Amino acid sequence: MLYHINRRDFVKNSAIAGAGLSLSTDSIKAWSAAKKSTVRVGMIGVGLRGQSHLELFLRRDDTEIVAMADPDKEMMADAQKLISDAGKKAAVEFTNGDYDYRNLLKRDDIDAVLIATPWQWHSIQAIDAMNAKKIPGVEVCGAIKLQECWDVVNTSEKTGVRLMMMENVCYRRDVMAVLNMVRKNLFGELLHLQGGYEHDLREVKFNGGRGKDGVEFGPKAFSEARWRTQHSVTRNGELYPTHGLGPVANLINANRGNRLTRLSSVATKSRGLHRYIVNHPLGGPNHPNAKVKFKLGDIVTTTIQTANQETIVLTHDTNSPRPYNLGFRVQGTNGLWIDNHAGEFNAGLIYFEGVSKPHTWENPENYMKEHDHPLWKRFENDAKGAGHGGMDFFVDNAFIECVKRDVDFPLDVYDYATWYAITPLSEKSIAEGGQVQDIPDFTRGKWKSRKPIFCLDDQY
Ligand SMILES: NC(=O)c1ccc[n+]([C@@H]2O[C@H](COP(=O)([O-])OP(=O)(O)OC[C@H]3O[C@@H](n4cnc5c(N)ncnc54)[C@H](O)[C@@H]3O)[C@@H](O)[C@H]2O)c1
Repeated sequence: MLYHINRRDFVKNSAIAGAGLSLSTDSIKAWSAAKKSTVRVGMIGVGLRGQSHLELFLRRDDTEIVAMADPDKEMMADAQKLISDAGKKAAVEFTNGDYDYRNLLKRDDIDAVLIATPWQWHSIQAIDAMNAKKIPGVEVCGAIKLQECWDVVNTSEKTGVRLMMMENVCYRRDVMAVLNMVRKNLFGELLHLQGGYEHDLREVKFNGGRGKDGVEFGPKAFSEARWRTQHSVTRNGELYPTHGLGPVANLINANRGNRLTRLSSVATKSRGLHRYIVNHPLGGPNHPNAKVKFKLGDIVTTTIQTANQETIVLTHDTNSPRPYNLGFRVQGTNGLWIDNHAGEFNAGLIYFEGVSKPHTWENPENYMKEHDHPLWKRFENDAKGAGHGGMDFFVDNAFIECVKRDVDFPLDVYDYATWYAITPLSEKSIAEGGQVQDIPDFTRGKWKSRKPIFCLDDQY
């Protein structure tokens, strides 16, 4: 049908196809009147990521940092310095071990908590927060065990406390422009999507302590090398699914008219981390860590099926020399986009039948500019300087705005559970030679009637 239409008709048709969305947009605006003027926040985990959220919260007039919990006193001092540099009042500190955050949760002057801790703590702390009637915003990773995903959902449903999945890549500017194009039907009916976490993390997984190079991990190391690397020793699976999956899940309306049904994972051999230790000037074949056997395959590939018969391929690739790229591909009956460099409008490739020269890729820049998301246009200046090319502003903004307005989060507890579940299911699949695993329906059937709400307009 779209074979011989010109570009203007193409855009017009697309706008008509997207018209259904503007109705929902109006209804969102109707319930968006702010209820709270200030959100009182407790930070749980003020390491490198917690501090980047803290910096963004400190820029806001509507966010007050009341208290912070972290057993690492150096990280706490760094976080307090950020607060004093911003000219704000010092936060109450909870540094007395791994469970002192529970004392933070007992306070009655906190509305919401931002959890940016090592992966094994996310669900435990989110559950504790909801039981204490504090609204958790939880950083990204995958679950340790499938059951914790159910525990988080059950606690949210029992307490009535909402949770936000703080997946920042969903707000990447090119990803949101593509979301706009999908909603305007430029790609036709979606068929296949790809995404991943393709990031050389070797210098994150190893260092020699704070500010020092080296091949240490565990207690002698700093930040993520202190805890993240151990997961590569004992686990083989899609350990970091949400950066790749979150954006594509929004494109196919997962948990909102669609759902992820099954997955299967395979992994390559494990070479990169050992090779890094052996080849590093501060390591070598006689370094004690050269004896460590890493279980995580260098490249883990997960194929996901959906109720609406799309397929998704996720790639986890963190142990090898390679430039960063999340490797998105969005393909429909009428065309496709391939991302090949971390969010730049003029990188990657795009093709639309009836618009592009037949069988010829186009540079996506003009499409990206034309379909730039209204939220980005509105907050472009506020997002300047925020982490990861500005997208971190948007995820924090959504968290604070939804708490203020007392409305549903665009990325909610069902997204958390579904995305986190990919990790233990992929580990099981790999252990069983790629056996297909069912992905639970954490919405218990509500996905059929839930409507898309992610970024329908320029509000948050
Ligand atoms: N979305 C993103 O772009 C992005 C980027 C980096 C990290 N992350 C995620 O953020 C989270 C934190 O990573 P990070 O880089 O800040 O690691 P980090 O090691 O720098 O910080 C983690 C902090 O948590 C503290 N902590 C440990 N146990 C705790 C407990 N029981 N209670 C309170 N605090 C505790 C540690 O002392 C440390 O200061 C991880 O889930 C990571 O995957 C996300």
